[in-house]
Amino acid sequence: MRKRAILITGANGEIGHGLISSLHQKHEQNIIALDLQPMDSKITGYIKEGIVGNILDKNLLEQINGEYAISEIYHLAALLSTRAEFSPQVAHEVNVGGTINLLELAVKQSRSQGQAVKYFFPSSIAVYGFTSLNEKILNPILKEDEHCDPQTMYGCNKLYCEKLGIYYSHHYQRLAAEFTPGLVDFRSIRFPGLISASTIPTGGTSDYAPEMIHAAVQGKPYACFVRPDTIIPFMTMPDAIKSILNLMNADKQKLSRLVYNITAFHPTAEEFFDKILNYFSNAEVSYVINKKRQAIVDSWPAEVDDSIARADWGWKPEYDFQSAFETYLIPKIKLHYGQ
Ligand code: SER
Repeated sequence: MRKRAILITGANGEIGHGLISSLHQKHEQNIIALDLQPMDSKITGYIKEGIVGNILDKNLLEQINGEYAISEIYHLAALLSTRAEFSPQVAHEVNVGGTINLLELAVKQSRSQGQAVKYFFPSSIAVYGFTSLNEKILNPILKEDEHCDPQTMYGCNKLYCEKLGIYYSHHYQRLAAEFTPGLVDFRSIRFPGLISASTIPTGGTSDYAPEMIHAAVQGKPYACFVRPDTIIPFMTMPDAIKSILNLMNADKQKLSRLVYNITAFHPTAEEFFDKILNYFSNAEVSYVINKKRQAIVDSWPAEVDDSIARADWGWKPEYDFQSAFETYLIPKIKLHYGQ
């Protein structure tokens, strides 16, 4: 008998930390965590097994397939947008190759168990793309199917993986005699920039907001790499985790699509700084603009329309801009740095 499991890749990442803690609080006992690095001590107590390995290692995935009966996959491993620009081919291999390897694992698991395997894929506002700041200003809020013209390797990877997930759900091996749609129950959310009180992102381009807040709490000056008027949507990590669990638990009949926008608040970089000054009046932020990273953020929308997620599965963020700072970020980041 194979052991029952839910598999989480990229377990050591920011979303992985939040998701694993939250699943543990909900008494999930069967988490198998996969990451390139040994599991962080903060999550080892919450998982059944930590596997150090690469999602591109097909032998390892075959071994996992033989050992476990997997009901859900949360495929979080990826290179983020800034890092992906420095190594586009590696980003493609990891972000796309890893996703398809896990979709294949989901198909095998589904066939052997005789039931669909749920597959969560974190997509991103990076799937959108404007060619100029003017175009962004003229289109202040985007629905799921508008302006999907990514300008980064990461955005291209995410958009294509959304399509792969839809293909594996509806059309996988459509010409085969034993064609069975629905082997994979793929569900995806396009996240805005995420801000966690207990971790900081590595290699993203929305990193200026979390970096600015974490620097202020530590009393360190911060050189912000985008203009003060830069605007994209953001969300707290607890809301991101809540959204994943809500979507994964939603009744499939109610889902009118497989990929959803969600959002919580969309302040400018300067509004982030002003908010921080309310709590840390000595906070220091200078603007040392990195034109290339600025262009990436300027290609992303100022806001997204999440009305379909709200209607289909009751999405609603717990934190707005004010309460995110007041009741989550400031108290929790202070605790994180022992204040
Ligand atoms: N936050 C991500 C990044 O900046 C986008 O999804 O790369």
